[in-house]
Amino acid sequence: MQLFENITKMQEWAREQKKQGQSIALVPTMGYLHEGHLALVKEARRQCDKVVVSIFVNPIQFGAGEDFEQYPRDLEQDSALLEKERVDALFSPGIRDMYPGSFQTFVEAYGEITEKMCGASRPGHFKGVTTVVSKLFNICQPDRAYFGQKDAQQLMIVEKMVRELNFPLEIIRVPIVREKDGLAMSSRNVYLSPEERAEALVLYRALKMAEEEIKNGEREIGIIRQKMEEMIEACPRAAIDYIAINNANDLSELQTCTGKVLIALAVKFGKTRLIDNLIVEV
Ligand code: PAJ
Repeated sequence: MQLFENITKMQEWAREQKKQGQSIALVPTMGYLHEGHLALVKEARRQCDKVVVSIFVNPIQFGAGEDFEQYPRDLEQDSALLEKERVDALFSPGIRDMYPGSFQTFVEAYGEITEKMCGASRPGHFKGVTTVVSKLFNICQPDRAYFGQKDAQQLMIVEKMVRELNFPLEIIRVPIVREKDGLAMSSRNVYLSPEERAEALVLYRALKMAEEEIKNGEREIGIIRQKMEEMIEACPRAAIDYIAINNANDLSELQTCTGKVLIALAVKFGKTRLIDNLIVEV
């Protein structure tokens, strides 16, 4: 596996691969890799000739007072994991190279899709994501880029951006990878105390309960949301940020549960904010 820290070298390598007729997969990450990230890498390995994984803790998608400084980092361990997956190139640029002091160009999505859920609780977050993802696309020139359903809203926004700005690539969705007990894998899970870790199971339990309610015929969004709220609020360490039930195609509001429904939530345990979601087809 080749390590690139230099943007121009990465771009030259990608251009050379394309000249030789090789298809390129890109898996953008912020590192501290777990099986969730590796599911994306495995899918990429299956589908493309060359696999590039980027590791960059993107400062501009973190708000003031968020965990940019504390975000876990371990490039050595990540490298070893990616070697094992037969990744061809690891792109790990420096912050100053990605964002020189003079940096003033951003890519921003507007509308309902960015305004609710994480967009409402983390202002500026998705502008940071769409900007860095655009840069990564231009640098690594992938034919396909892999994103996890774990960050459902991010995935939808990136898909929309690719469509609307005509990026010449395909976005591949990868399902959520969970721990055996149901907790969605996340680099942030390491922040949890044992007590918080135990309580965090309520996220998936609440989602499965909502799915069950819908399968049993419940169609009222208010009622489903309230039941989820009650279940989560029974956990003393949990503080709900949002519970959202929306159209899974565009996050538009639903009158009742019909079609493809995205049930998504964000809950804080102490300082750690966890997200999870599930799609139900009614
Ligand atoms: P990060 O949180 O490191 O996630 C990188 C990719 O891994 C995302 O597409 C995310 O959805 C996926 N992923 C994380 N946990 C997963 C799980 N349990 N199952 C399946 N996929 C999972 O998301 C980001 O980084 C950043 O916002 C980024 C896109 C890299 C832009 O900076």
